[in-house]
Amino acid sequence: MSDHHERWIDLRSDTVTQPSAAMRAAMSAAPVGDDVYGDDPTVNRLQDVAAELFGYEAGLFAPSGTQTNLIALMGHCGRGDEYLVGQEAHTYKYEGGGAAVLGSIQPQPIANQPDGSIAVEDIAAYIKPDDMHFARTRLLALENTIGGRVLPRDYVKAATGLAHAQGLATHLDGARVCNAAVKQGVSLREIVAGFDTVSVCLSKGLGAPIGSVLLGPKAFVEQGKRWRKMLGGGMRQAGVIAAAGLYALEHNVERLADDHANAAALSSGLARIDALQVTTPQTNIFYVDMPAAACAPLAQALARQRIRATIGPHTRLVTHLDVSAEDVQKVLQAFQTFFQDWRA
Ligand SMILES: Cc1ncc(COP(=O)(O)O)c(C=O)c1O
Repeated sequence: MSDHHERWIDLRSDTVTQPSAAMRAAMSAAPVGDDVYGDDPTVNRLQDVAAELFGYEAGLFAPSGTQTNLIALMGHCGRGDEYLVGQEAHTYKYEGGGAAVLGSIQPQPIANQPDGSIAVEDIAAYIKPDDMHFARTRLLALENTIGGRVLPRDYVKAATGLAHAQGLATHLDGARVCNAAVKQGVSLREIVAGFDTVSVCLSKGLGAPIGSVLLGPKAFVEQGKRWRKMLGGGMRQAGVIAAAGLYALEHNVERLADDHANAAALSSGLARIDALQVTTPQTNIFYVDMPAAACAPLAQALARQRIRATIGPHTRLVTHLDVSAEDVQKVLQAFQTFFQDWRA
């Protein structure tokens, strides 16, 4: 936001970022073509660069993470098949039931553990035997990060290893997989090891205005192009937005560590306020529990300071590239001032 007086500190999500001047310049300069014909050089480059970075054969650019996830689910599972997925997972809970509605795929939701994983024993127990009464269990879908939590590496290895040994495919909703890699200090290739396909969002912490890429085997991605077209995701001169995604992959991965540091500073400051229960962030997302009666007046007090957050008894706060260390101090100050005066 260029006008300083108009600027808000927005902690609702890492999807709220504004494309920087340099990112906009890259978008403006991008060579483009009709991507439905496969003619857009910038889209093609983004798909190749992403595939190379994460260690897959091919990539497919789509407008949203919801769409790349759905393309993957529809690629792995057919009518009457099922996928194993966490109760809290985005593909199950927050994507409008698309797998069932558009894919005729039955989800088998499984409780997430406190660390965000699905217990390996539960995965084993929910894989159905070959019996005409059951949907065919085809796929294990995990999410990393999930609610800001990074899946332990040993766990990912065990869960994907079990799935493969049982003949299942594996998909990762990697909307924030770069946050996970930066947190664990491993490469992008290492963080996705064990997954046949992965969806990576460019418009979350990476700061692009739109777009996700689905990565996987060449034949899977070729088939995925058909699903993408059917779902309305065949775009034309999409290089204008793919350029933002390329810029994001080139410039905005390592800096995610700053968002993690800002989340840590904000959470530890908020934890000193008696009325609040604050989780310790692993990455850029954490939660603050507060008395219900405080919510409305706090939201108003924050708004007066041009601070935006989805305040509720269980509030999610998210840092991103448009939240600076100074902003964190301003937010802390606003919370402290409010709770000094507030009595239930
Ligand atoms: C974990 C996760 N997966 C997938 C998505 C879907 O991305 P999109 O909003 O681009 O459809 C989101 C969006 O917030 C998400 O948080």
